[in-house]
Amino acid sequence: MNRLRNFPHEMLREIYEQPDAIRRTLALYLAGDGLKPEVASLLAGWPNPAGEILIAASGSSRHSGLAGEILLEDLCGVAVDVEYASEYSCRGGKDPKDMRHPSVLVLSQSGETSDTLAALYEAGRRGQKTLAITNASSSTMAGDANVSMPLAAGMERAIPATKSFTCQLTVLYLLALYEGVRLGRMDSGELASYIQQLQALPNMIEAQLDSWRKQMAGLARKYSTASTFLYLGRGIHYAIAREGALKLKEASYVHAEGYPTGELKHGPNALVSDSVPLVVLATVDYGLSASVLRYEKTLQLLSDMRAQGAKVIAIANRGDGQVSELVSDCVEVEPVSEYLLPIPEAIPLQLFAYFMALEHGVDVDRPRNLAKAVVEKS
Ligand code: G6P
Repeated sequence: MNRLRNFPHEMLREIYEQPDAIRRTLALYLAGDGLKPEVASLLAGWPNPAGEILIAASGSSRHSGLAGEILLEDLCGVAVDVEYASEYSCRGGKDPKDMRHPSVLVLSQSGETSDTLAALYEAGRRGQKTLAITNASSSTMAGDANVSMPLAAGMERAIPATKSFTCQLTVLYLLALYEGVRLGRMDSGELASYIQQLQALPNMIEAQLDSWRKQMAGLARKYSTASTFLYLGRGIHYAIAREGALKLKEASYVHAEGYPTGELKHGPNALVSDSVPLVVLATVDYGLSASVLRYEKTLQLLSDMRAQGAKVIAIANRGDGQVSELVSDCVEVEPVSEYLLPIPEAIPLQLFAYFMALEHGVDVDRPRNLAKAVVEKS
């Protein structure tokens, strides 16, 4: 832990803690190449007879929920909706009967966010089974849900969520693996291969942190005068585009929005200019045809943006010459499977937000007007 001592801010320390936080979180649920048998008995309390899941969350936790939607749909074949917790808890027409009967998953770093708690209680009122994924096993949400799957990220002090976000992705991935096997969508060989990749991730991240830190500090300097950033991602990477944009806004007060890549030309492209650069998630998993298709479409967009004269920062696989030729700046991540890429993609974007905050003189651990958990005063 000594190597984590000398950081000027909690946010940077917590970014660097991610390999250990993910290791600890994995250790809660994995034994060797498999899920611990206790995971099955735990999740038996969150049955899903209708094959539908509703995820309710706020802020960064909702963005991990967007990634969870794709994980659970693609790997397990269950239908998933993601709601803003603040919307779900305020919905309900004349007829109190629901059209659907999903199992409800609430995601929350603190386990105390009022809107997410209200969503949890609303789900209970509707007779739905609930699962809480929180970073505080003694939180209200963890105690009041039918089932609790804690993270082991350790206390997160900086207001912008970093290690809790990647640990949420880790637990959602484990949940998808469990459901995938339970529903017969994945055999034991596939499960073991996914788990091996997951276990290799912390070392892989550790090996890249210093070079990302250096590169993102330089990019923050280079782009410090930009007025707005548009973050783009397709499929599961859209969730990371949303999170990258939120991180930049909350940490540095620079405006940013996340869009699905294909939506750029349906309006937002009018904003693109020298002072409005793009941040494009352009990684690929060559083992998955859907990922290759997304990548090819992204390459086409990057080529169009080059012709348009846009400034583009891309996140791409290590050594991807096709992407680096088309963009102004390319940040490399080690290639991993499509469904694990969000974890390494998120980290350089956290570092970019951190260094942009320093460029703009923001107290990054305590940005103005924000609270670590938005809890209504009673
Ligand atoms: C606040 C924080 C965000 C966080 C959100 C949800 O708005 O500033 O960083 O993502 O709450 O918090 P939770 O504890 O429910 O994940």
